[in-house]
Amino acid sequence: MRELVYYVAVTLDGFIAGPGGEYDGFLMEGDHMQAINRRYAATIPTDFAASFGVTQDTSMVDTVLMGWNTYAVGGVPSPYRHLRQIVFSRTRTAAGENLEVTDEDPLVVVRRLKQEEGSAIWLCGGGALAATLADEIDRLVLKRQPVLFGSGIPLFGDRPYRPERFDLVETTAYESGVVVSELARRPGLSRERPTTP
Ligand SMILES: NC(=O)c1ccc[n+]([C@@H]2O[C@H](COP(=O)([O-])OP(=O)(O)OC[C@H]3O[C@@H](n4cnc5c(N)ncnc54)[C@H](OP(=O)(O)O)[C@@H]3O)[C@@H](O)[C@H]2O)c1
Repeated sequence: MRELVYYVAVTLDGFIAGPGGEYDGFLMEGDHMQAINRRYAATIPTDFAASFGVTQDTSMVDTVLMGWNTYAVGGVPSPYRHLRQIVFSRTRTAAGENLEVTDEDPLVVVRRLKQEEGSAIWLCGGGALAATLADEIDRLVLKRQPVLFGSGIPLFGDRPYRPERFDLVETTAYESGVVVSELARRPGLSRERPTTP
């Protein structure tokens, strides 16, 4: 079955952006950049990949999910048009190549996507959508940045307290201080456990 992978940059204190969506505190230069861009080429916006000379394919990821706020940050109609793009919004719509905006429940959409043929489904973000989809996430790829933001948009929005166990698959530390960790949901744990023992 296809996996839902939350691949995201996060600060040491657990934020994916500043309180107003700021991301200028993230390290955009350093030895991590080329390695990450090569390994996760499908997650680079289509236009950037072309200008970097990076070849993109859909063998690792063929679908990306975005909350409306994440989609809106890009400022372009179809940022990842080499992928199937699904944007969630209850209030807005947009048109773009290989892009659909839906007000359907993200959990229903993801469970349906997982039954279809294909490679992994990339959960791009942001925190609000990740909180909704937390129980369906199979794998985390966290690009931990060596910075503190102090406040901002949390990795999982306002998800309530509920411990979930993931196992480390691989971790790579770069001289820049960025650490990329891949973690897989521990098998056998029910995704619909009660919240009390
Ligand atoms: N560090 C990184 O790698 C990274 C990656 C991605 C995003 N980000 C950052 O994260 C920030 C955005 O995160 P965010 O938490 O504010 O917002 P978000 O999750 O991107 O988008 C929230 C919006 O998505 C829609 N939505 C969310 N849950 C929904 C649901 N269950 N059903 C239907 N629609 C739903 C709603 O839009 P409507 O209000 O229109 O209904 C909601 O207001 C941006 O600043 C972005 O740059 C960072």
